[in-house]
Amino acid sequence: MKVRFKLNGEEVEVEANPASRLLDVLREKFGLIGVKEGCGEGECGACAVLLDGRVVHSCLVPFANVMGKEIITIEGLRKTEEYRIIEESLLDAGSVQCGFCTPGFVISIYALLKNNPNPEDKEIREAISGNLCRCTGYQMIIDGVKLAAKRGEKLWKA
Ligand code: FES
Ligand code: FES
Repeated sequence: MKVRFKLNGEEVEVEANPASRLLDVLREKFGLIGVKEGCGEGECGACAVLLDGRVVHSCLVPFANVMGKEIITIEGLRKTEEYRIIEESLLDAGSVQCGFCTPGFVISIYALLKNNPNPEDKEIREAISGNLCRCTGYQMIIDGVKLAAKRGEKLWKA
């Protein structure tokens, strides 16, 4: 089945089994290996991408579901100032260790701050509740999000 969709700002069309997972199509057909496979069961968030601005776990999305939609992966976000601010803030808060979970966290944090530029701790916890990190404490990640909210104040409100 041919599926057309927007990927990181570009219209694309690709032939793939409609039942295949979005995660596999992104990695195998487009080489977007920043989208990681962790649990493969929708529990760790390593495979998170934005689908029409919403965070989804791409290991749970059948590829046919992206027809006509817009997907943004960590590779697409990397070109933005928002990405730079989130990454630097997480690093400065000491919340990046092995880095495996980081792309998924960045996707969730980006979606949060775009919708809620000044979140409370509870809202941050909720926004990252679909992401697992086995290395750092979640408080450091929350501190990183708050730093990013402050440093990018004007950008998030734009
Ligand atoms: S690999 Fe998709 S949520 Fe873990
Ligand atoms: S930094 Fe290693 S899993 Fe999060």
